[in-house]
Amino acid sequence: MTPLLPTEEWIRELPKAEVHLHLEGCVPHEMVRRATAPAGRATAPAGRAAPLVPAAPPTITNLSQLLTYLDWSCGLIDQADQLEQIAYAITTRAKHSGAGHVDIIVNPTHWPHWQHDLKAMIDALDAGLRAGQADHGTTTALCISIKRNQTRSEALELVDTLLELAHPRVAALSIDGNEANGAESHNSRFAPAFERARHAGLRRTAHAGESSGPEGVREAIELLGAERIDHGIRCLEDPQVTALVAARGIPLDICPTSNVVLGVVRDLANHPIKQLRASNIRCSLNTDDPLLYDIDLAGEYERVAEAFHYGTDELGEMARVGLESCFADEDRRFTLLKHLDDYLSG
Ligand code: ADE
Ligand code: ZN
Repeated sequence: MTPLLPTEEWIRELPKAEVHLHLEGCVPHEMVRRATAPAGRATAPAGRAAPLVPAAPPTITNLSQLLTYLDWSCGLIDQADQLEQIAYAITTRAKHSGAGHVDIIVNPTHWPHWQHDLKAMIDALDAGLRAGQADHGTTTALCISIKRNQTRSEALELVDTLLELAHPRVAALSIDGNEANGAESHNSRFAPAFERARHAGLRRTAHAGESSGPEGVREAIELLGAERIDHGIRCLEDPQVTALVAARGIPLDICPTSNVVLGVVRDLANHPIKQLRASNIRCSLNTDDPLLYDIDLAGEYERVAEAFHYGTDELGEMARVGLESCFADEDRRFTLLKHLDDYLSG
């Protein structure tokens, strides 16, 4: 019998997947510091002051600050072995949190050294991920992301590049960044890129309902054909959008600590995950940018369990949503779901 109140160990061992994790939020601060040190390379994105390089990661409090920081920190990474290390470490942390599979969002616009040589970038990540799978058994898939401020043709160009590369590590097209500048209607600009990706067999995931309201969520579903919504929590502001998400069974890739840090919700106690689940919406738990928030996946399960008095049933259901909605191939998904069933019934 599983204990009613999950222990830390039970949570760590619970078979799960992480489906909302940005490569950009997985660059160790020490690597950033080392990259700035040798040649005084504390350069910033064009037109911005160079941030000082503190001993610890910066305190991030909102999305635009986060995105500026990511442009700067990822812009320092110019060696293939750095990408390989970042990728390998993702699998190590996944293993430690009991995640058998990770979908990793990669936004090329944050990586100026690699943006125009995606093949080299993906090959380097793939080498780290392959080594990680050999050592830890963790499988991974890349979700290559359009940034919200890109143009229609840049988005199409990215999809064309992905289709040309046809790299087996790439499973999906994603879109992330800031929707805050009245950008909900901008989804129509990205619809052709998502349609082309769908037609070619790429999976689709979209950030919405974080810096956009419920209309952003509706558009991600109806205009972009998103199979999963990253965040999505603000769908609750409109009962019709809430009902749409529930009726279509679209999973929300929830990141509780990220939502608190970026000021989307006041604190964890006020996170709407309970209302979302009560509205029959499928929710998984994820970390978003773990090294910037000093968190890991198992820790997110623990915090949510404590805040909402969730037991093994609720945590098991959220782990199941993560596994069901991950972009691992069918066999792997089936195997991981079987591990979950055995774990929950054993
Ligand atoms: N890129 C990295 N983290 C993000 C977030 N929370 N929202 C949108 N884009 C992101
Ligand atoms: Zn995200």
